Amino acid sequence: MKNLTRRQFAASVVAAAALGPAASARDAFAQTPNPASRPDQPEFPPDFIWGCATSAYQIEGAVKEDGRGLSIWDTFSHTPGKVFQGDTGDVADDSYHLYKEDVKLLRSLGATGYRFSISWPRVIPDGTGKPNEKGLAYYERLVDELLANNIAPYITLYHWDLPQALPGGWQSRDTAKALGDYAGFVAGRLSDRVKHFFTTNEFVCISDVGHRLGLFAPGLTLSAAEANQVRHHVVLGHGLAVQVIRANARGGTLVGLAENAVVYVPAIETREHVEAAHRATREGNAPFLTAVMEGKYLDGYLEGEGANAPKVAEGDMRIIGSPLDFVGINVYQPQYVRADGSAQGYSVESRPTSYPHMASPWLFIGPEAIYWAIRNVSEIWKPAALFITENGCSSDDVLTAEGRIEDTDRVMFLRNYVTHLQRAAAEGYPVKGYFLWSLMDNFEFPDGYGKRFGIHYVDFNTQKRTPKLSAEWYREAIRRNRAV
Ligand code: NOJ
Repeated sequence: MKNLTRRQFAASVVAAAALGPAASARDAFAQTPNPASRPDQPEFPPDFIWGCATSAYQIEGAVKEDGRGLSIWDTFSHTPGKVFQGDTGDVADDSYHLYKEDVKLLRSLGATGYRFSISWPRVIPDGTGKPNEKGLAYYERLVDELLANNIAPYITLYHWDLPQALPGGWQSRDTAKALGDYAGFVAGRLSDRVKHFFTTNEFVCISDVGHRLGLFAPGLTLSAAEANQVRHHVVLGHGLAVQVIRANARGGTLVGLAENAVVYVPAIETREHVEAAHRATREGNAPFLTAVMEGKYLDGYLEGEGANAPKVAEGDMRIIGSPLDFVGINVYQPQYVRADGSAQGYSVESRPTSYPHMASPWLFIGPEAIYWAIRNVSEIWKPAALFITENGCSSDDVLTAEGRIEDTDRVMFLRNYVTHLQRAAAEGYPVKGYFLWSLMDNFEFPDGYGKRFGIHYVDFNTQKRTPKLSAEWYREAIRRNRAV
């Protein structure tokens, strides 16, 4: 518009309007590209899974029903001062009773997958020993309801709600074995209807956030040596779970994990910085994803921890490195990295105080993180398949007087991340599906109900679910199988 006066511009629009609305828009904005209609706009593969994710303690409620045992999150949330405003998961979204309604929400989005987790203490109340058939029956009902609606179930076996009864919790090596046995039991019973199992969700939250920082259950602040041993037990538990699932489940069952690997994004997309991001990805994830993908702890990790390094028994690393069918990555924020002349070869950039984040102060925005998560992991370890097992954000949602939630910031967030996901798919990386966190607002662990991540608004007094603007956006993205 630079060379037109405002009046000339107005006149041209009026003239175009005389030709009718379509011509008017076409002519007046002829220079405005419309990405949605570009014939070369890449799309996702036709069988791409579009889903939502949740976890048991965050949505189910019904903590005392049908023989469920206590989990460490029941204990932690009931400990004064641990969770925002004393919130607990006692009722949460009451999805234990309202699961059919929740499947309807998925169906109305057009979702083809649902990632949910199984509450270990609901199925094996003491962590080991006698299973609770009534607990398992709930998941059978849920799986059947999903299948009846053409939605594929993707099951996370362990999403932080450890049975309280397990002696020593993750500090005990026996808990790794207990996870394997529980995972094998569930997969043995459900693999006639469920094809994909994730062993665990986010190693570092289980180990470090729960046992070193004390911010998650069980709320411990152990020494570095003790916390590193917890890390080892958790990855060992994952490896045992992979093996026992394979031994117990039907042929064709696929096993992986859901991991919030640190996503290193090259500050500038040049060869040297891309290589720096690769190195940082291996080294920055050494205790967790690297150990799982390579079946070893990097020398740098062990040397760095020195006397605090985990004690590893003969054969552990082979178990931890059990081959996977796919890798799931939870992607929220980027960590910018660049090559430098140091011995390490790279440096991780600090963030200016003006760096934008969503309602959760830790949730720094960086849509390209989703592309680099896939590219780094694919190029380093070449997994057969990848899923984005979580991506989404908190927003200060407001229910308007008309009953709408205009979460334009969440739509902005999702649109940009999915656009970068589309780049990864278009470049041929084997990304098979995307699970948006979350289907609905829920218990956000220490933030209680104070942070909303859902694309459906939940009134926690009435349990009414209301689709937000972001749900409408997601429905359209799914319908067109592309970023919109
Ligand atoms: C990661 C966790 O898996 C999930 O439980 C949590 O609610 C989201 N991120 C958002 O913090």
